[in-house]
Amino acid sequence: MKITVVGAGNVGATVANVCAHKELANEIVLLDIKEGIAEGKALDIWQTAPINLYDSRVKGVTNDYAATAGSDVVVITSGLPRKPGMSRDDLIATNAGIVKSVTENIIKHSPNTIIIVVSNPLDVMTYCAYLTAKIDASRVFGMAGILDTARYRAFLAEALNCSPKDIQAVLMGGHGDTMVPLPRYTTVGGIPVTELIDAKSLDAIVERTKKGGGELVNLMGTSAWYAPGAAAAQMVEAIVRDQKRIFPVCAWLQGEYGIKDVYLGVPVKLGKKGIEQIIELKLTADEQKLVDESAKAVKEVMDVLDNMPVAK
Ligand code: LAC
Repeated sequence: MKITVVGAGNVGATVANVCAHKELANEIVLLDIKEGIAEGKALDIWQTAPINLYDSRVKGVTNDYAATAGSDVVVITSGLPRKPGMSRDDLIATNAGIVKSVTENIIKHSPNTIIIVVSNPLDVMTYCAYLTAKIDASRVFGMAGILDTARYRAFLAEALNCSPKDIQAVLMGGHGDTMVPLPRYTTVGGIPVTELIDAKSLDAIVERTKKGGGELVNLMGTSAWYAPGAAAAQMVEAIVRDQKRIFPVCAWLQGEYGIKDVYLGVPVKLGKKGIEQIIELKLTADEQKLVDESAKAVKEVMDVLDNMPVAK
């Protein structure tokens, strides 16, 4: 197995570090455009191997896509992160050019790879990679739902004073303020969460989750990396170990949930072929309305991309 992580910023380096820790591949390549940065971070990660006892070889390269050839999974984290006051959508112009050129180079050297997009605005950058890669959508998808549900589950674990391990949840929609956490599909040790917490506290947690990325940007002056990196690595793990795990993932919808030609967060089954199934939950009318609104918000930004020279 070979994994490539493009972008050696905080998120990319964290993905490489977690993948190495979990020994997800014999070879992990970290690539960045900035001279020396990927080499340095990869060397630093590799030097934890004797301490953490793994043998995945981590290697860093500067823009040398030949070194990524034959990758089974590629995680694209390249692009600018948000600064305070910015929405994820503000990044579209800069990041679309970057994601397009990265995807072209990746596909040239690894035509059979699976691509996981992490760059923001997530849903639209995943669409950009899909347009560029020209491969089946089961092999191009985005990481957002695992991160967003992790935030939701962490907040719930705190509020209920219980282990986050026992909290299971599904969340749908775009990776932005319109995301749709689904309390009806949230359980704690198998118990519906609505039996354990009052509606007002649950609403507050849902609202905090929707703005969870922004809360971190405001605290740190840049966007988060530990949870985004761990979330992307969990998707890599499900693929390389063919785990058939059920996760919310940003996927290309072709009529599922009544939505067509939009990349949106939905529950899927992830295995060695990538997205092996899109799971269609039975939503209430209110839930469907929120998902439709989120799809509309994502589609508006997709249309912006479609009208940019980079999409031609
Ligand atoms: C976040 C960024 C990675 O939600 O979108 O933290």
